[in-house]
Amino acid sequence: MKDILEELEARRAGARAGGGERRVAAQHAKGKLTARERIELLLDEGSFEEFDMFVAHRCTDFGMEKDRPAGDGVVTGWGTINGRQVYVFSQDFTVMGGSVSETHGAKICKIMDMAMQNGAPVIGINDSGGARIQEGVASLAAYGEVFQRNIEASGVVPQISLIMGPCAGGAVYSPAMTDFIFMVKDSSYMFVTGPDVVKTVTNEVVTAEELGGASTHTRKSSVADGAFENDVEALAEVRRLFDFLPLNNRQKAPVRPFFDAPDRIESSLDTLVPDNPNQPYDMKELIQKIADEGDFFEVQKDFAANIIIGFIRLEGQTVGVVANQPMVLAGCLDIDASRKGARFVRFCDAFEIPILTLVDVPGFLPGTGQEYGGVIKHGAKLLFAYGEATVPKVTVLTRKTYGGAYVVMASKHLKADFNYAWPTAEVAVMGAKGAVEILYRSELGEPEKIAARVKDYEDRFANPFVAAEKGFIDEVIMPHSTRRRVARAFAALRGKKAAMPWKKHDNIPL
Ligand code: HXC
Repeated sequence: MKDILEELEARRAGARAGGGERRVAAQHAKGKLTARERIELLLDEGSFEEFDMFVAHRCTDFGMEKDRPAGDGVVTGWGTINGRQVYVFSQDFTVMGGSVSETHGAKICKIMDMAMQNGAPVIGINDSGGARIQEGVASLAAYGEVFQRNIEASGVVPQISLIMGPCAGGAVYSPAMTDFIFMVKDSSYMFVTGPDVVKTVTNEVVTAEELGGASTHTRKSSVADGAFENDVEALAEVRRLFDFLPLNNRQKAPVRPFFDAPDRIESSLDTLVPDNPNQPYDMKELIQKIADEGDFFEVQKDFAANIIIGFIRLEGQTVGVVANQPMVLAGCLDIDASRKGARFVRFCDAFEIPILTLVDVPGFLPGTGQEYGGVIKHGAKLLFAYGEATVPKVTVLTRKTYGGAYVVMASKHLKADFNYAWPTAEVAVMGAKGAVEILYRSELGEPEKIAARVKDYEDRFANPFVAAEKGFIDEVIMPHSTRRRVARAFAALRGKKAAMPWKKHDNIPL
Protein backbone atom coordinates (compact mmCIF):
# COMPACT_ATOMS: atom_id res chain seq x y z
CA MET A 1 0.00 0.00 0.00
CA LYS A 2 2.76 2.40 1.02
CA ASP A 3 4.50 1.79 -2.28
CA ILE A 4 1.37 2.67 -4.19
CA LEU A 5 0.94 5.90 -2.22
CA GLU A 6 4.53 6.76 -2.90
CA GLU A 7 4.09 6.03 -6.56
CA LEU A 8 1.09 8.33 -6.67
CA GLU A 9 3.09 11.08 -5.01
CA ALA A 10 5.96 10.52 -7.40
CA ARG A 11 3.66 10.63 -10.42
CA ARG A 12 2.00 13.78 -9.12
CA ALA A 13 5.36 15.41 -8.54
CA GLY A 14 6.37 14.48 -12.07
CA ALA A 15 3.24 16.07 -13.54
CA ARG A 16 3.65 19.18 -11.39
CA ALA A 17 7.22 19.62 -12.57
CA GLY A 18 5.92 20.37 -16.07
CA GLY A 19 8.72 20.57 -18.62
CA GLY A 20 11.42 20.47 -15.94
CA GLU A 21 13.64 22.96 -14.19
CA ARG A 22 15.41 24.28 -17.26
CA ARG A 23 12.22 25.13 -19.11
CA VAL A 24 10.54 26.55 -15.99
CA ALA A 25 13.57 28.80 -15.50
CA ALA A 26 13.27 29.91 -19.15
CA GLN A 27 9.59 30.67 -18.59
CA HIS A 28 10.43 32.77 -15.53
CA ALA A 29 13.24 34.50 -17.39
CA LYS A 30 10.66 35.77 -19.88
CA GLY A 31 8.73 37.35 -16.97
CA LYS A 32 6.05 34.66 -17.26
CA LEU A 33 4.64 32.49 -14.49
CA THR A 34 4.08 28.76 -15.04
CA ALA A 35 0.66 27.30 -15.80
CA ARG A 36 0.25 26.14 -12.20
CA GLU A 37 1.51 29.35 -10.63
CA ARG A 38 -1.10 31.22 -12.67
CA ILE A 39 -3.90 28.95 -11.48
CA GLU A 40 -2.76 29.43 -7.89
CA LEU A 41 -3.01 33.21 -8.21
CA LEU A 42 -6.30 33.11 -10.09
CA LEU A 43 -8.21 30.86 -7.71
CA ASP A 44 -8.93 30.99 -4.00
CA GLU A 45 -6.13 29.41 -2.00
CA GLY A 46 -6.39 25.64 -1.92
CA SER A 47 -9.56 25.55 -4.02
CA PHE A 48 -8.13 24.03 -7.20
CA GLU A 49 -9.27 20.49 -8.06
CA GLU A 50 -7.35 19.12 -10.98
CA PHE A 51 -8.62 16.77 -13.69
CA ASP A 52 -6.60 14.59 -16.01
CA MET A 53 -3.24 15.17 -14.41
CA PHE A 54 -1.93 11.94 -15.92
CA VAL A 55 -3.33 12.24 -19.41
CA ALA A 56 -0.62 11.68 -22.01
CA HIS A 57 -0.70 12.01 -25.78
CA ARG A 58 -1.13 9.01 -28.07
CA CYS A 59 1.08 10.12 -30.94
CA THR A 60 3.61 7.59 -32.25
CA ASP A 61 5.04 9.57 -35.15
CA PHE A 62 8.44 11.30 -35.06
CA GLY A 63 9.51 9.18 -32.03
CA MET A 64 6.88 10.87 -29.89
CA GLU A 65 6.08 7.61 -28.07
CA LYS A 66 9.31 8.12 -26.12
CA ASP A 67 8.21 11.45 -24.71
CA ARG A 68 4.82 11.34 -23.05
CA PRO A 69 4.74 13.96 -20.30
CA ALA A 70 1.91 13.65 -17.77
CA GLY A 71 -0.76 16.26 -18.34
CA ASP A 72 0.15 16.82 -22.01
CA GLY A 73 0.86 20.54 -21.75
CA VAL A 74 -2.31 21.83 -20.17
CA VAL A 75 -3.50 21.96 -16.57
CA THR A 76 -7.29 21.71 -16.23
CA GLY A 77 -9.82 21.64 -13.43
CA TRP A 78 -12.08 23.78 -11.33
CA GLY A 79 -11.88 25.93 -8.24
CA THR A 80 -13.39 29.06 -6.79
CA ILE A 81 -12.92 32.82 -7.01
CA ASN A 82 -14.17 34.45 -3.83
CA GLY A 83 -16.15 31.30 -3.17
CA ARG A 84 -17.84 31.04 -6.60
CA GLN A 85 -17.16 28.13 -8.92
CA VAL A 86 -15.14 28.45 -12.10
CA TYR A 87 -13.57 26.00 -14.55
CA VAL A 88 -10.04 26.69 -15.71
CA PHE A 89 -7.51 25.53 -18.25
CA SER A 90 -3.96 26.78 -18.24
CA GLN A 91 -1.60 25.86 -21.06
CA ASP A 92 1.88 24.86 -19.95
CA PHE A 93 4.43 26.33 -22.33
CA THR A 94 7.17 24.33 -20.61
CA VAL A 95 5.66 21.10 -22.00
CA MET A 96 6.12 20.97 -25.77
CA GLY A 97 5.50 24.68 -25.94
CA GLY A 98 1.95 24.23 -24.65
CA SER A 99 1.12 22.89 -28.11
CA VAL A 100 -2.34 21.43 -28.64
CA SER A 101 -2.54 17.70 -29.29
CA GLU A 102 -5.64 15.55 -29.59
CA THR A 103 -5.52 14.74 -25.87
CA HIS A 104 -4.62 18.30 -24.81
CA GLY A 105 -7.73 19.50 -26.68
CA ALA A 106 -9.85 16.74 -25.13
CA LYS A 107 -8.83 17.90 -21.65
CA ILE A 108 -10.02 21.43 -22.43
CA CYS A 109 -13.27 20.08 -23.89
CA LYS A 110 -13.91 18.02 -20.78
CA ILE A 111 -13.85 21.00 -18.45
CA MET A 112 -15.88 23.09 -20.91
CA ASP A 113 -18.56 20.40 -21.00
CA MET A 114 -18.61 20.28 -17.21
CA ALA A 115 -18.80 24.07 -16.99
CA MET A 116 -21.82 24.10 -19.28
CA GLN A 117 -23.50 21.26 -17.43
CA ASN A 118 -22.93 22.82 -14.03
CA GLY A 119 -23.48 26.44 -15.02
CA ALA A 120 -20.09 27.92 -14.17
CA PRO A 121 -17.80 30.21 -16.19
CA VAL A 122 -14.67 29.10 -18.02
CA ILE A 123 -11.38 30.94 -17.79
CA GLY A 124 -8.76 29.91 -20.34
CA ILE A 125 -5.11 30.80 -19.89
CA ASN A 126 -3.44 30.68 -23.30
CA ASP A 127 0.30 30.18 -23.67
CA SER A 128 0.90 27.88 -26.60
CA GLY A 129 2.88 27.28 -29.78
CA GLY A 130 -0.38 26.24 -31.47
CA ALA A 131 -1.28 22.97 -33.13
CA ARG A 132 1.16 20.19 -32.14
CA ILE A 133 3.08 19.85 -35.32
CA GLN A 134 3.79 16.12 -34.88
CA GLU A 135 0.07 15.31 -34.66
CA GLY A 136 -1.07 17.05 -37.81
CA VAL A 137 -4.77 16.96 -38.51
CA ALA A 138 -5.57 15.36 -35.14
CA SER A 139 -4.54 18.57 -33.49
CA LEU A 140 -6.65 20.65 -35.88
CA ALA A 141 -9.60 18.47 -34.97
CA ALA A 142 -8.88 19.13 -31.30
CA TYR A 143 -9.09 22.88 -31.93
CA GLY A 144 -12.31 22.39 -33.86
CA GLU A 145 -13.85 20.58 -30.90
CA VAL A 146 -12.87 23.46 -28.59
CA PHE A 147 -14.27 26.04 -31.04
CA GLN A 148 -17.62 24.25 -31.18
CA ARG A 149 -17.81 24.35 -27.39
CA ASN A 150 -16.90 28.04 -27.32
CA ILE A 151 -19.84 28.64 -29.61
CA GLU A 152 -22.26 26.50 -27.63
CA ALA A 153 -21.18 28.06 -24.33
CA SER A 154 -21.55 31.61 -25.68
CA GLY A 155 -24.41 33.27 -23.84
CA VAL A 156 -24.73 30.28 -21.47
CA VAL A 157 -21.70 30.73 -19.21
CA PRO A 158 -19.26 33.66 -19.24
CA GLN A 159 -15.99 32.79 -20.98
CA ILE A 160 -12.83 34.75 -20.26
CA SER A 161 -9.49 34.39 -22.05
CA LEU A 162 -6.12 35.40 -20.74
CA ILE A 163 -3.39 35.57 -23.35
CA MET A 164 -0.11 35.05 -21.51
CA GLY A 165 2.28 34.00 -24.24
CA PRO A 166 2.02 33.05 -27.90
CA CYS A 167 -1.41 32.50 -29.42
CA ALA A 168 -1.11 32.20 -33.17
CA GLY A 169 -2.74 30.77 -36.25
CA GLY A 170 -6.22 29.35 -36.02
CA ALA A 171 -5.64 29.04 -32.27
CA VAL A 172 -6.67 32.69 -31.90
CA TYR A 173 -10.22 31.81 -32.83
CA SER A 174 -10.99 30.14 -29.54
CA PRO A 175 -10.29 33.28 -27.45
CA ALA A 176 -11.90 35.36 -30.19
CA MET A 177 -15.23 33.71 -29.47
CA THR A 178 -15.05 34.22 -25.70
CA ASP A 179 -16.61 37.20 -23.94
CA PHE A 180 -13.44 38.94 -22.77
CA ILE A 181 -9.80 38.75 -23.78
CA PHE A 182 -7.02 40.16 -21.62
CA MET A 183 -3.36 40.28 -22.58
CA VAL A 184 -0.08 40.85 -20.78
CA LYS A 185 2.12 43.64 -22.09
CA ASP A 186 5.37 42.57 -23.80
CA SER A 187 4.92 38.82 -23.19
CA SER A 188 1.84 37.91 -25.18
CA TYR A 189 0.80 38.13 -28.79
CA MET A 190 -2.01 37.01 -31.05
CA PHE A 191 -2.06 36.83 -34.85
CA VAL A 192 -3.54 34.68 -37.55
CA THR A 193 -0.30 34.65 -39.52
CA GLY A 194 3.06 35.56 -38.01
CA PRO A 195 5.65 38.13 -39.12
CA ASP A 196 7.49 35.70 -41.44
CA VAL A 197 4.38 34.80 -43.42
CA VAL A 198 3.35 38.45 -43.51
CA LYS A 199 6.74 39.34 -45.01
CA THR A 200 6.50 36.61 -47.65
CA VAL A 201 2.97 37.46 -48.70
CA THR A 202 2.75 41.23 -48.37
CA ASN A 203 6.38 42.30 -48.10
CA GLU A 204 5.61 44.10 -44.83
CA VAL A 205 8.32 43.96 -42.20
CA VAL A 206 6.77 43.88 -38.77
CA THR A 207 7.71 42.52 -35.36
CA ALA A 208 5.52 40.06 -33.45
CA GLU A 209 4.83 42.79 -30.91
CA GLU A 210 3.78 45.29 -33.57
CA LEU A 211 1.67 42.73 -35.37
CA GLY A 212 -0.16 41.24 -32.44
CA GLY A 213 1.06 42.55 -29.09
CA ALA A 214 -1.11 43.93 -26.31
CA SER A 215 -0.86 47.50 -27.52
CA THR A 216 -1.99 46.56 -31.04
CA HIS A 217 -4.97 44.60 -29.82
CA THR A 218 -6.14 47.05 -27.16
CA ARG A 219 -5.66 50.21 -29.27
CA LYS A 220 -5.93 49.28 -32.94
CA SER A 221 -7.79 46.04 -33.54
CA SER A 222 -9.96 45.96 -30.37
CA VAL A 223 -9.47 42.19 -30.28
CA ALA A 224 -8.44 42.48 -26.61
CA ASP A 225 -10.47 44.10 -23.85
CA GLY A 226 -7.55 45.11 -21.69
CA ALA A 227 -3.82 44.72 -21.15
CA PHE A 228 -1.88 44.47 -17.93
CA GLU A 229 1.73 44.99 -16.89
CA ASN A 230 2.40 41.40 -15.83
CA ASP A 231 0.82 38.04 -15.08
CA VAL A 232 0.09 38.89 -11.45
CA GLU A 233 -1.83 42.06 -12.29
CA ALA A 234 -3.74 40.34 -15.10
CA LEU A 235 -4.87 37.49 -12.86
CA ALA A 236 -5.88 39.87 -10.05
CA GLU A 237 -7.94 41.97 -12.47
CA VAL A 238 -9.70 38.91 -13.88
CA ARG A 239 -10.66 37.99 -10.30
CA ARG A 240 -12.07 41.52 -9.96
CA LEU A 241 -14.07 41.20 -13.19
CA PHE A 242 -15.32 37.73 -12.22
CA ASP A 243 -16.97 39.22 -9.11
CA PHE A 244 -19.21 41.37 -11.32
CA LEU A 245 -20.47 38.46 -13.41
CA PRO A 246 -23.19 35.87 -12.89
CA LEU A 247 -22.17 32.23 -13.07
CA ASN A 248 -24.48 31.53 -15.98
CA ASN A 249 -27.41 32.88 -17.98
CA ARG A 250 -30.00 31.61 -15.51
CA GLN A 251 -28.55 33.27 -12.45
CA LYS A 252 -28.26 36.89 -11.46
CA ALA A 253 -24.89 38.47 -10.79
CA PRO A 254 -23.81 38.20 -7.15
CA VAL A 255 -24.93 40.85 -4.68
CA ARG A 256 -21.95 42.22 -2.77
CA PRO A 257 -22.09 44.03 0.58
CA PHE A 258 -21.91 47.79 -0.03
CA PHE A 259 -20.93 50.64 2.23
CA ASP A 260 -22.21 53.60 0.25
CA ALA A 261 -25.63 55.17 0.83
CA PRO A 262 -27.86 54.66 -2.24
CA ASP A 263 -29.28 58.16 -1.68
CA ARG A 264 -25.85 59.83 -1.55
CA ILE A 265 -26.13 63.40 -2.89
CA GLU A 266 -23.33 64.61 -5.18
CA SER A 267 -23.61 68.41 -5.31
CA SER A 268 -20.59 68.63 -7.60
CA LEU A 269 -22.66 67.06 -10.40
CA ASP A 270 -24.80 70.20 -10.58
CA THR A 271 -21.83 71.94 -12.20
CA LEU A 272 -20.38 69.01 -14.15
CA VAL A 273 -21.83 70.19 -17.47
CA PRO A 274 -20.03 73.43 -18.48
CA ASP A 275 -22.03 76.52 -19.50
CA ASN A 276 -20.35 76.50 -22.89
CA PRO A 277 -22.05 73.70 -24.87
CA ASN A 278 -18.87 73.06 -26.84
CA GLN A 279 -16.71 72.51 -23.79
CA PRO A 280 -16.10 68.89 -22.87
CA TYR A 281 -16.24 67.31 -19.44
CA ASP A 282 -15.27 63.89 -18.19
CA MET A 283 -18.16 61.44 -18.23
CA LYS A 284 -16.10 59.06 -16.09
CA GLU A 285 -16.59 61.47 -13.20
CA LEU A 286 -20.33 60.90 -13.43
CA ILE A 287 -19.92 57.12 -13.63
CA GLN A 288 -17.71 57.09 -10.55
CA LYS A 289 -20.07 59.32 -8.63
CA ILE A 290 -23.04 57.09 -9.41
CA ALA A 291 -21.22 53.82 -8.59
CA ASP A 292 -21.08 52.15 -5.20
CA GLU A 293 -17.78 53.28 -3.64
CA GLY A 294 -16.76 54.77 -6.98
CA ASP A 295 -15.74 51.32 -8.20
CA PHE A 296 -15.77 51.04 -12.00
CA PHE A 297 -14.33 48.10 -13.99
CA GLU A 298 -13.72 49.59 -17.38
CA VAL A 299 -13.53 47.39 -20.48
CA GLN A 300 -11.69 48.36 -23.70
CA LYS A 301 -10.56 51.68 -22.25
CA ASP A 302 -7.90 52.25 -24.91
CA PHE A 303 -10.15 51.71 -27.91
CA ALA A 304 -12.91 54.01 -29.21
CA ALA A 305 -12.64 56.16 -26.12
CA ASN A 306 -15.59 58.23 -27.38
CA ILE A 307 -17.74 55.57 -25.77
CA ILE A 308 -17.12 54.16 -22.30
CA ILE A 309 -18.19 50.66 -21.26
CA GLY A 310 -17.75 48.71 -18.05
CA PHE A 311 -19.29 47.48 -14.84
CA ILE A 312 -20.32 49.22 -11.63
CA ARG A 313 -22.50 48.15 -8.72
CA LEU A 314 -25.57 49.88 -7.38
CA GLU A 315 -26.78 48.74 -3.98
CA GLY A 316 -24.30 45.88 -4.37
CA GLN A 317 -25.74 44.67 -7.70
CA THR A 318 -23.91 44.65 -11.00
CA VAL A 319 -24.90 47.20 -13.63
CA GLY A 320 -23.34 47.51 -17.10
CA VAL A 321 -22.60 51.10 -18.06
CA VAL A 322 -22.49 52.53 -21.57
CA ALA A 323 -21.68 56.23 -21.79
CA ASN A 324 -20.69 58.74 -24.42
CA GLN A 325 -17.44 60.50 -23.59
CA PRO A 326 -17.55 64.22 -24.57
CA MET A 327 -13.76 64.42 -24.09
CA VAL A 328 -13.10 62.29 -27.21
CA LEU A 329 -14.55 63.21 -30.63
CA ALA A 330 -17.13 65.23 -28.68
CA GLY A 331 -18.76 61.90 -27.78
CA CYS A 332 -19.81 61.19 -31.39
CA LEU A 333 -20.80 57.67 -32.31
CA ASP A 334 -18.65 56.13 -35.02
CA ILE A 335 -17.96 52.66 -36.37
CA ASP A 336 -15.60 51.65 -33.57
CA ALA A 337 -17.77 53.07 -30.78
CA SER A 338 -20.87 51.39 -32.17
CA ARG A 339 -19.20 47.98 -32.37
CA LYS A 340 -17.69 48.36 -28.93
CA GLY A 341 -20.99 49.43 -27.37
CA ALA A 342 -23.08 46.83 -29.19
CA ARG A 343 -21.03 43.84 -28.12
CA PHE A 344 -21.11 45.01 -24.53
CA VAL A 345 -24.88 45.59 -24.53
CA ARG A 346 -25.36 42.09 -25.92
CA PHE A 347 -23.11 40.59 -23.26
CA CYS A 348 -25.12 42.33 -20.53
CA ASP A 349 -28.41 41.22 -22.02
CA ALA A 350 -27.24 37.62 -22.45
CA PHE A 351 -26.29 37.47 -18.77
CA GLU A 352 -29.17 39.44 -17.24
CA ILE A 353 -27.04 42.43 -16.28
CA PRO A 354 -29.09 45.66 -16.22
CA ILE A 355 -27.79 48.50 -18.38
CA LEU A 356 -27.28 52.14 -17.43
CA THR A 357 -26.78 54.46 -20.40
CA LEU A 358 -25.38 57.97 -19.93
CA VAL A 359 -25.95 60.13 -22.97
CA ASP A 360 -24.22 63.19 -24.37
CA VAL A 361 -24.01 62.59 -28.10
CA PRO A 362 -23.92 65.13 -30.92
CA GLY A 363 -24.66 62.43 -33.52
CA PHE A 364 -22.82 60.02 -35.77
CA LEU A 365 -19.37 61.06 -36.97
CA PRO A 366 -19.61 62.36 -40.56
CA GLY A 367 -17.14 61.57 -43.34
CA THR A 368 -16.23 59.31 -46.21
CA GLY A 369 -14.06 57.22 -43.91
CA GLN A 370 -17.11 56.35 -41.86
CA GLU A 371 -19.48 55.82 -44.77
CA TYR A 372 -17.04 53.70 -46.77
CA GLY A 373 -16.29 51.72 -43.63
CA GLY A 374 -19.97 50.87 -43.30
CA VAL A 375 -21.10 53.08 -40.42
CA ILE A 376 -24.66 52.32 -41.50
CA LYS A 377 -24.26 48.63 -40.69
CA HIS A 378 -22.04 49.19 -37.65
CA GLY A 379 -24.23 51.91 -36.15
CA ALA A 380 -27.18 49.58 -36.62
CA LYS A 381 -25.43 47.04 -34.41
CA LEU A 382 -25.73 49.31 -31.40
CA LEU A 383 -29.30 50.23 -32.28
CA PHE A 384 -30.19 46.57 -32.69
CA ALA A 385 -28.42 45.53 -29.50
CA TYR A 386 -30.29 48.09 -27.42
CA GLY A 387 -33.63 47.30 -29.04
CA GLU A 388 -33.36 43.56 -28.45
CA ALA A 389 -32.07 43.87 -24.87
CA THR A 390 -34.81 42.92 -22.43
CA VAL A 391 -32.83 43.55 -19.24
CA PRO A 392 -33.70 46.63 -17.15
CA LYS A 393 -32.55 49.71 -19.05
CA VAL A 394 -32.14 53.11 -17.41
CA THR A 395 -30.98 56.11 -19.40
CA VAL A 396 -29.81 59.53 -18.23
CA LEU A 397 -29.35 62.39 -20.71
CA THR A 398 -26.83 64.86 -19.42
CA ARG A 399 -26.49 67.23 -22.36
CA LYS A 400 -27.06 67.01 -26.06
CA THR A 401 -28.60 64.08 -27.83
CA TYR A 402 -29.25 64.70 -31.49
CA GLY A 403 -30.67 62.87 -34.45
CA GLY A 404 -30.36 59.12 -34.97
CA ALA A 405 -27.90 58.90 -32.10
CA TYR A 406 -30.69 60.04 -29.76
CA VAL A 407 -32.81 57.07 -30.75
CA VAL A 408 -29.87 54.64 -30.67
CA MET A 409 -28.67 55.50 -27.16
CA ALA A 410 -31.30 53.52 -25.22
CA SER A 411 -34.14 55.93 -25.92
CA LYS A 412 -37.73 55.35 -24.84
CA HIS A 413 -38.47 54.16 -28.36
CA LEU A 414 -36.11 51.19 -27.88
CA LYS A 415 -38.03 50.14 -24.79
CA ALA A 416 -35.79 51.70 -22.17
CA ASP A 417 -37.61 51.53 -18.83
CA PHE A 418 -36.60 54.80 -17.21
CA ASN A 419 -35.45 57.78 -19.27
CA TYR A 420 -34.19 60.61 -17.14
CA ALA A 421 -32.78 63.94 -18.27
CA TRP A 422 -30.81 66.57 -16.49
CA PRO A 423 -32.15 70.13 -16.94
CA THR A 424 -29.14 70.75 -19.21
CA ALA A 425 -30.30 68.11 -21.72
CA GLU A 426 -31.23 68.97 -25.29
CA VAL A 427 -33.15 66.49 -27.40
CA ALA A 428 -33.35 67.61 -31.01
CA VAL A 429 -32.86 66.55 -34.59
CA MET A 430 -29.64 68.56 -34.66
CA GLY A 431 -27.90 71.53 -33.02
CA ALA A 432 -29.56 74.96 -33.38
CA LYS A 433 -26.97 76.40 -35.77
CA GLY A 434 -27.15 73.47 -38.18
CA ALA A 435 -30.94 73.45 -38.08
CA VAL A 436 -31.24 77.17 -38.84
CA GLU A 437 -28.74 76.97 -41.69
CA ILE A 438 -30.99 74.42 -43.37
CA LEU A 439 -34.37 75.90 -42.52
CA TYR A 440 -33.43 79.53 -43.33
CA ARG A 441 -30.86 79.14 -46.08
CA SER A 442 -32.13 82.25 -47.84
CA GLU A 443 -31.28 84.36 -44.79
CA LEU A 444 -27.69 83.18 -44.48
CA GLY A 445 -26.33 86.53 -45.68
CA GLU A 446 -28.05 88.33 -42.81
CA PRO A 447 -26.18 87.42 -39.60
CA GLU A 448 -28.56 89.26 -37.27
CA LYS A 449 -31.59 87.46 -38.60
CA ILE A 450 -29.77 84.15 -38.38
CA ALA A 451 -28.66 84.84 -34.79
CA ALA A 452 -32.26 85.54 -33.85
CA ARG A 453 -33.39 82.33 -35.54
CA VAL A 454 -30.71 80.34 -33.68
CA LYS A 455 -31.81 81.89 -30.38
CA ASP A 456 -35.41 81.07 -31.17
CA TYR A 457 -34.55 77.44 -32.05
CA GLU A 458 -32.49 77.09 -28.88
CA ASP A 459 -35.28 78.49 -26.73
CA ARG A 460 -37.71 76.03 -28.19
CA PHE A 461 -35.63 72.89 -28.50
CA ALA A 462 -32.43 73.21 -26.45
CA ASN A 463 -34.05 71.70 -23.37
CA PRO A 464 -35.44 68.39 -22.19
CA PHE A 465 -39.02 69.61 -21.88
CA VAL A 466 -40.26 69.12 -25.44
CA ALA A 467 -39.33 65.43 -25.14
CA ALA A 468 -40.69 65.31 -21.57
CA GLU A 469 -44.03 66.72 -22.74
CA LYS A 470 -44.30 63.84 -25.15
CA GLY A 471 -43.42 61.26 -22.50
CA PHE A 472 -40.11 60.35 -24.13
CA ILE A 473 -38.40 61.54 -20.97
CA ASP A 474 -40.00 60.20 -17.81
CA GLU A 475 -38.62 62.84 -15.48
CA VAL A 476 -36.21 65.76 -15.47
CA ILE A 477 -33.94 65.16 -12.48
CA MET A 478 -31.45 67.18 -10.50
CA PRO A 479 -27.90 66.11 -11.36
CA HIS A 480 -26.96 65.86 -7.67
CA SER A 481 -29.59 63.18 -7.09
CA THR A 482 -28.61 60.99 -10.05
CA ARG A 483 -27.25 58.12 -7.94
CA ARG A 484 -30.40 57.99 -5.87
CA ARG A 485 -32.74 58.19 -8.88
CA VAL A 486 -30.86 55.57 -10.86
CA ALA A 487 -30.55 53.21 -7.89
CA ARG A 488 -34.28 53.50 -7.21
CA ALA A 489 -35.07 52.91 -10.87
CA PHE A 490 -33.06 49.68 -10.98
CA ALA A 491 -34.58 48.60 -7.67
CA ALA A 492 -38.03 49.13 -9.17
CA LEU A 493 -37.06 46.98 -12.15
CA ARG A 494 -35.81 43.94 -10.25
CA GLY A 495 -38.91 41.98 -11.16
CA LYS A 496 -38.91 43.02 -14.82
CA LYS A 497 -40.02 40.34 -17.24
CA ALA A 498 -39.89 41.08 -20.95
CA ALA A 499 -39.27 38.93 -23.99
CA MET A 500 -38.79 39.31 -27.71
CA PRO A 501 -41.06 37.43 -30.13
CA TRP A 502 -40.08 33.77 -30.63
CA LYS A 503 -37.42 33.28 -33.27
CA LYS A 504 -34.61 30.84 -33.93
CA HIS A 505 -32.20 33.72 -33.60
CA ASP A 506 -32.08 37.25 -34.88
CA ASN A 507 -30.08 38.54 -37.79
CA ILE A 508 -28.16 41.41 -36.22
CA PRO A 509 -26.28 43.37 -38.92
CA LEU A 510 -22.84 41.80 -38.46
C1 HXC B 1 5.13 21.00 -31.14
C2 HXC B 1 6.19 22.81 -30.28
C3 HXC B 1 5.30 23.67 -30.97
C4 HXC B 1 4.30 23.09 -31.77
C5 HXC B 1 6.67 24.88 -29.87
N1 HXC B 1 7.02 23.63 -29.61
N2 HXC B 1 5.63 24.94 -30.70
N3 HXC B 1 6.08 21.50 -30.36
N4 HXC B 1 4.26 21.74 -31.81
N5 HXC B 1 3.42 23.81 -32.43
C6 HXC B 1 8.11 23.16 -28.75
C7 HXC B 1 9.47 23.44 -29.30
O1 HXC B 1 9.88 22.41 -30.13
C8 HXC B 1 10.31 23.52 -28.03
O2 HXC B 1 10.58 22.20 -27.59
C9 HXC B 1 9.34 24.13 -27.03
O3 HXC B 1 8.05 23.91 -27.56
C10 HXC B 1 9.54 25.60 -26.85
O4 HXC B 1 9.60 26.22 -28.13
P1 HXC B 1 10.75 27.24 -28.54
O5 HXC B 1 10.68 27.38 -30.01
O6 HXC B 1 12.06 26.81 -27.94
O7 HXC B 1 10.27 28.54 -27.78
P2 HXC B 1 10.36 30.04 -28.24
O8 HXC B 1 11.72 30.32 -28.78
O9 HXC B 1 9.87 30.85 -27.11
O10 HXC B 1 9.33 30.16 -29.48
C11 HXC B 1 7.96 29.97 -29.30
C12 HXC B 1 7.24 29.86 -30.65
C13 HXC B 1 7.92 28.77 -31.51
C14 HXC B 1 7.33 31.20 -31.36
C15 HXC B 1 5.79 29.56 -30.36
O11 HXC B 1 8.04 27.59 -30.73
C16 HXC B 1 7.16 28.45 -32.72
O12 HXC B 1 7.21 29.18 -33.71
N6 HXC B 1 6.46 27.29 -32.69
C17 HXC B 1 5.70 26.81 -33.82
C18 HXC B 1 4.49 27.67 -34.01
C19 HXC B 1 3.61 27.12 -35.10
O13 HXC B 1 3.90 27.22 -36.27
N7 HXC B 1 2.52 26.46 -34.67
C20 HXC B 1 1.58 25.88 -35.56
C21 HXC B 1 0.68 27.05 -35.94
S1 HXC B 1 -0.72 26.59 -36.84
P3 HXC B 1 11.86 21.87 -26.69
O14 HXC B 1 11.80 20.39 -26.51
O15 HXC B 1 13.05 22.30 -27.49
O16 HXC B 1 11.73 22.60 -25.41
C22 HXC B 1 -1.87 26.42 -35.70
C23 HXC B 1 -3.15 26.07 -36.31
C24 HXC B 1 -4.25 26.02 -35.33
O17 HXC B 1 -1.69 26.53 -34.57
C25 HXC B 1 -5.46 25.77 -36.16
C26 HXC B 1 -6.71 25.70 -35.39
C27 HXC B 1 -7.86 25.45 -36.27
